[in-house]
Amino acid sequence: METSTTYRLLDGTECGMAVRSRIASATAEVLKARGRAPHLAAVLVGEDPASQTYVGSKVKACEEVGFRSTLLRRPATTTEEDLLALVDQLNNDSTVDGFIVQLPLPKHINEERITLAIAPGKDVDGFHPQNLGRMMLGLPGYLPATPNGIVELLRHYEVPTEGKHCVVVGRSNIVGTPMAILMSRNAYPGNCTVTIAHSRTRDLPAITHQADILIVAIGKPNFITADMVKEGAVVVDVGIHRVEDASRKRGYRICGDVEFERVAPKCAWITPVPGGVGPMTVTSLLLNTLKAARS
Ligand code: GUN
Repeated sequence: METSTTYRLLDGTECGMAVRSRIASATAEVLKARGRAPHLAAVLVGEDPASQTYVGSKVKACEEVGFRSTLLRRPATTTEEDLLALVDQLNNDSTVDGFIVQLPLPKHINEERITLAIAPGKDVDGFHPQNLGRMMLGLPGYLPATPNGIVELLRHYEVPTEGKHCVVVGRSNIVGTPMAILMSRNAYPGNCTVTIAHSRTRDLPAITHQADILIVAIGKPNFITADMVKEGAVVVDVGIHRVEDASRKRGYRICGDVEFERVAPKCAWITPVPGGVGPMTVTSLLLNTLKAARS
């Protein structure tokens, strides 16, 4: 079969910079009006290297747009009670506009209990059931960072979505499920016919092959191969993995859930990894924090 090689990149770094420059202007206005900048606090429990990287990039992004940020580190041995007490303290700290608790948490801490304890008005990750419920009903609230970042990316590159078949691979509470809801909303980007595929889906390649827009958040390196993708598709890769690579000086390389080299030539648009969805997740967190500071 003939394949096109003229794919275009959904570049999260470029798009993130454009959105962040608008956030920086709005921050200057907030500063003038309120006398202080938007303030994001991030809680990091334990030493997970990936989580440290993610939180580090969130803090750095805050600095770049002129926000205040506070990183609260706790050891992996922190108890659930201690963490709940910290959440309570942040809920009641009027100098903090919004905060996040980086996931995953150590096994002895119940993530659901922590998420539920965060005041919905400060839940800039958009993980609280109240915010997820509001999204579901189309009411104002905080949208979850990764799905909203993907929506912003599609908007920035003016990717047509109306009437398209969007297949979301993965049904997590923080990415796949909210993503499916956003793509089916009566809005732009949105108005898609959406299918959610997951680990129990029968004949996954037959489903993904129907996708005009394929959003992959399954958490498995190079899981989507070229035979699973339709010619001309838009592919969004949420995965980010370190895979061993002896040919690299650092001993590993970064890849996504999509086998980029083989899939890209079939695509109209595709996100790179890194530099695709990741920077947009951070940008979307900044947008939510700005919203919190204005409310
Ligand atoms: N872990 C993976 N993605 C996220 C995210 O968007 N927010 C938080 N708090 N933890 C995560």
